[in-house]
Formats: sequence, C-alpha cells, structure tokens
Amino acid sequence: MDPNKQIIVALDCDSRPVAEDIVARLGEECRFYKVGLELLTAAGPDLIKDLVAQGKEVFLDLKLFEIPNSVAGAVRAAGALGASMVTVHSMGGTAIMAAAVDAARAFPELRVLALTVVTSMTDADLADIGVTDSAEEQVVRLARLARKAGCHGVIASPQDVAALRGPLGSDALLVTPGVALPGDSSAEHARPDTPRAAVAAGASHIVVGRTVTRAADPAAAFHLVRTSIVP
Ligand code: C5P
Repeated sequence: MDPNKQIIVALDCDSRPVAEDIVARLGEECRFYKVGLELLTAAGPDLIKDLVAQGKEVFLDLKLFEIPNSVAGAVRAAGALGASMVTVHSMGGTAIMAAAVDAARAFPELRVLALTVVTSMTDADLADIGVTDSAEEQVVRLARLARKAGCHGVIASPQDVAALRGPLGSDALLVTPGVALPGDSSAEHARPDTPRAAVAAGASHIVVGRTVTRAADPAAAFHLVRTSIVP
C-alpha cells in the first residue's frame, strides 16, 4: 500500500478556512483526511466534495449509532459525497452494521468501519457502563461481530491491533487512532503508541491529528510520521 495513503490526517477543527489551511500546508504528500462531526457540522458537506475533487480520500467519521434505516441513509449520503470510509458503532449491534454495509454496496469505493471501544476508554470506564470484560476482550468480541456483519474493518487502538489481525484475517482494514510521535505530549489517549508500532502490529492505516495539525510545521511533522513508518 502507498504509505502516504496509510496516514490519515484528522481535520479536527471548527471552520473551513482552518481546514483548508492545513490541507494547503500538507500539500501533495498527504492524500487522506478524516472529517469528523465538528468540521462536518461547522463547514458543511461541500468540503468533502471539494477534497475528493482535489484527489484526496476522505474518511467521514460519522460514528453512526441509530436505527438501521437512518444508518443506511447516512451511509448513502456519505457515499454520494465521495467518502472512502465511514464509521458505525459496533455496540449498536448486527442490524445497524449490516444496514450500513448494505447501503455502501452502491458505492464500490466506500468502506464501512466499525468502532469497537474508543481509545480513551479504560477497563474502569467499561465497568461504569456495565461491561465487565476487559477493554481488550470487548474489542475482540465487537470486532468479530463487525466482520460477521460484513464490515470492511474496524477502528482499534494500537495495542489492540495485534490481537485483532488473527481473528479478522489479513484483508480486514485496521484503522488506528491514538498514535503520537515519541515525545509528543499533545495527545491524551489512555492507550497511546507510535505510528511505527501501530503499523508493525498490523494496522492498515493510522489516524494522526494534533501531532501533525498543531505542529509548528505540519508538513515536516507529516513527513516525520511517514518516514517513521517507511524509513
Ligand atoms: O489525538 P489526535 O489529535 O491524534 O486524534 C485524532 C483523531 O483520533 C480524533 O479525530 C479522534 O476521532 C481519534 N481519537 C480516538 N480516540 C481517542 C483520541 C482520538 O479515536 N482517545
């Protein structure tokens, strides 16, 4: 896989000009962006279309958790914008994941990724919501369920990737946020790791946010992430 397409930069900002400034600074080397609910709500869907028109791939991080009919509608809307990836919550169960996968069939480039346990959650956080298994056990259970429902892959922390590669098989996408370069203190993930470690453990893609976007020189930071994966 093209290493530039393995790195997805999260455009976690609140306006189109700020997002466009980051995209312009990162230039040709960065090919893949994640747009989440903040930017989508603030800037509107035309931003996605424009990024796709510039030749960028877009991971639309909708974190869908709704009735199946509404999930399917949102996935179709994401596909119509040209998104390459969209997320659905596996904790919502098989029906909503299957609805998402079914809706995505009309868009051959669109991959449905399931969220398992968000990387900020610890075993204690899970216990608070009545899940007595460890985060790792819950991640594996939900990831298996997601694959059974037809999802193309899952979002997982770097530490969970190695445990997932076997059960999910070699063709599953494993997209890993919660990574930061060594010495970077901008991230507060409960279970952080480096991009290199995540890829070595089996991640197909990594998501980097502030490590790149809040760097004094975002292009240099992106390049550092890239070369840390493929020296
Ligand atoms: O921390 P960073 O700025 O690199 O976060 C980039 C992306 O990773 C965010 O858009 C968020 O969706 C995701 N993330 C996550 N779990 C966390 C922190 C961030 O999934 N604990």
